[in-house]
Amino acid sequence: MTFDPLSLRNQFPIFRTNLDKPLFYLDNAASTQMPQTVIDAVTEYETHSRANVSRGVHRLAEAATENFEAARQTVARYIGATSPKEVIFTSGTTDAINLVAQTFGEQLEKGDEVVVTLAEHHSNWVPWYMLAKQKGIILKFLPVEDNGRLDLSKLDQVVTSKCRLIAATHCSNVTGAITDVSALVKAAKSVGAKVLLDGAQMVPHGPVDVGALGVDFYAFSGHKMYAPNGIGVLWGQQSLLETLPPYRGGGGMIRSVSLEGITYAPPPERFEAGTPPIAQAVGLKAAIEWIESIDLHEATKVSHSLMETLLTEMEAQKGLRIIGPVGVNDRLPVVSFTLRDAHPHDVSQILDSIGVAVRGGHHCAQPLMEAYEIDGCTRASFGLYNDYSDVQTLLNGIDKVRGIFS
Ligand SMILES: Cc1ncc(COP(=O)(O)O)c(C=O)c1O
Repeated sequence: MTFDPLSLRNQFPIFRTNLDKPLFYLDNAASTQMPQTVIDAVTEYETHSRANVSRGVHRLAEAATENFEAARQTVARYIGATSPKEVIFTSGTTDAINLVAQTFGEQLEKGDEVVVTLAEHHSNWVPWYMLAKQKGIILKFLPVEDNGRLDLSKLDQVVTSKCRLIAATHCSNVTGAITDVSALVKAAKSVGAKVLLDGAQMVPHGPVDVGALGVDFYAFSGHKMYAPNGIGVLWGQQSLLETLPPYRGGGGMIRSVSLEGITYAPPPERFEAGTPPIAQAVGLKAAIEWIESIDLHEATKVSHSLMETLLTEMEAQKGLRIIGPVGVNDRLPVVSFTLRDAHPHDVSQILDSIGVAVRGGHHCAQPLMEAYEIDGCTRASFGLYNDYSDVQTLLNGIDKVRGIFS
C-alpha cells in the first residue's frame, strides 16, 4: 500500500464544493470531514434499507437490524473487543462517559474517590463533578507537567485505597500528548479501581486494542473519525457491564414490562433505550473500513514529518508558545499555540481569511488552560488528508497574524 494525502483528499466532496477559496482544514480534532464512501453508505441505507431495528420481522426491518449489528461487529473488531456485546452505541463520547458516571457511578458510595487528570476535556470532567455533588464522592486530580505529559510521579499521592475509578484521556485534545496508559492501569489495579479511557482523539488515527490496554471502559465519537454526527461508542468489559444498572428507560432495553415489575435486557441493549442512531452506525462502519483501507504506518510517517516541519518553524518564532510536548513522539498531530497577546479567536479569524480552518478558545479544557495560565490557545489538528500545503498555508497565516499584531 502507498499513502498519498492528496489522493485521499480527492475522496472528500467538501474539498471540491461550496467554497469561495481553497480549504486548508486543520480542525480535525473537533470534527473530521466525511469521505464519499461514508456518505454513499449512509445514502444507500436511507434509500434501500431504512426501517427501525430489532422490532419488525419485515425485510426492511431485518435489513436495518443486520446493518446495525454489522456496524457493532466492525467496531468490536476495530477496538479489539472480545465480543460485539461489549459495544454500546451512544450519541458520542460525552454520552458514553455520562453513561458510566450514571451506572458505574451509581454504585459508588460517599467517600469513594474518582481520579481525573488536568488534561481532560470537560466531557470527562463535568459528569464526575456532577456525580461527586450527587453522591458525596471525592474527586482527585492528576496534574500535568509543562510539556503536556501527565505527572505520573504524583500517581501514588492521588490514587489511594479509596479510589474506585481513574478517568483519563487517551490523548489530549489540546496538546496531542498520548497518555502512558500502562502506568494508570497499574496504579488503578493496585487498589482494585477501574480505568475509563476517553479515546475521542485516539481512535481516528487507527485501531486500538482495549484488551491490551487493560482498561475497563473506552469511549469515543464517530464524527471525529470520518463518520456522521450523532454516534459514539462505549466499550466495557462484558462481565463489568452485566453488573451495571440501566442508564435510560424506554423501548429496546427491557426483557419484560408488566404491572408486577420490569426486567431488563442484557448488555448492550440494556443501555440502548429508544431508537438508536442506525444510519449513523452504518456510516461509522463505512468510516472504520475506510480507515482500515489506508496504510496507517505510512500515514503516521507523513503526519510526523508534517508536525516536525510545523514545530521546527514554530519553535524558531519569537513570542510563539507551543502548548504541549516537544517533538513528535508519543503525540498525535495536534498542535496548540499562543502568539504574544493575540486572542485565539482573532488568530483563528485571520487564518480563516486565507482559508485555514483551526480552532481558538479553551477547547472545553478549562482546567488545562488554568494549569498553563492561559485563557485559551489556537489549535491546528491534522487528519489523514492533510499535507504540506496545509502546514505551509498555516505558517503563512501565522506570519499574517504577526504582521497585524506587531
Ligand atoms: C478528548 C475529547 N473527549 C471528549 C470529547 C467530546 O466529544 P463529543 O462532543 O463527540 O461527545 C471531545 C470533543 O472534542 C474530545 O476531544
